[in-house]
Amino acid sequence: KNIVILISGGGSNMAAIVRAAQRERWGAALGAEVKAVISNRPDAGGLAFAREHGIAAEVVDHKPFASRELFDEALAAAIDRHAPALVVLAGFMRILTPGFVSRYEGRLLNIHPSLLPAFPGLHTHQRALDAGCKVAGATVHQVTAELDHGPILAQAVVPIVPGDTAQTIAARVLTQEHLIYPRAIAQLLPTL
Ligand code: GRF
Repeated sequence: KNIVILISGGGSNMAAIVRAAQRERWGAALGAEVKAVISNRPDAGGLAFAREHGIAAEVVDHKPFASRELFDEALAAAIDRHAPALVVLAGFMRILTPGFVSRYEGRLLNIHPSLLPAFPGLHTHQRALDAGCKVAGATVHQVTAELDHGPILAQAVVPIVPGDTAQTIAARVLTQEHLIYPRAIAQLLPTL
């Protein structure tokens, strides 16, 4: 079962998934392989990691496209060349069109750095701090047409402690993201 991962930046979640997938038990048990990492940004740090791990690393730059629809069509064409059972958004910072989302319905996942349905959108950790939350976290969910909505597959909770900033919370949450994302994928794959 082929997996395609979409990134825009450092790709630490992508790296965690690749490491999990390349571990023998995961691959053997699930017949799963990360076939390609595709970035909308040519300078995404995660592309080098993918190449070093023998995975196709591709760029579909959103900038030359006149509309989201045209970008999403080009992105879908790049994805479909790898015939994926699962498409994984991992720090992919573009809003996807309803057409794109429905094309991959049921096999398109995202990770969001909040305990959804709280704090969809950007600046989640600062908003949790401002709201006086005592916990923060991350959510793995199926992607639906509405941003940061869709059936929840996994969540992790971390404490917010005195002295925390958005950055310290982000680092604490990211560590958990790296655990729950590969695990959620491993649970979903046999059903696809
Ligand atoms: C993660 O916090 C993810 O939840 C959010 O963007 C960040 C991406 O980090 N959507 P990385 O590129 O996986 O390191």
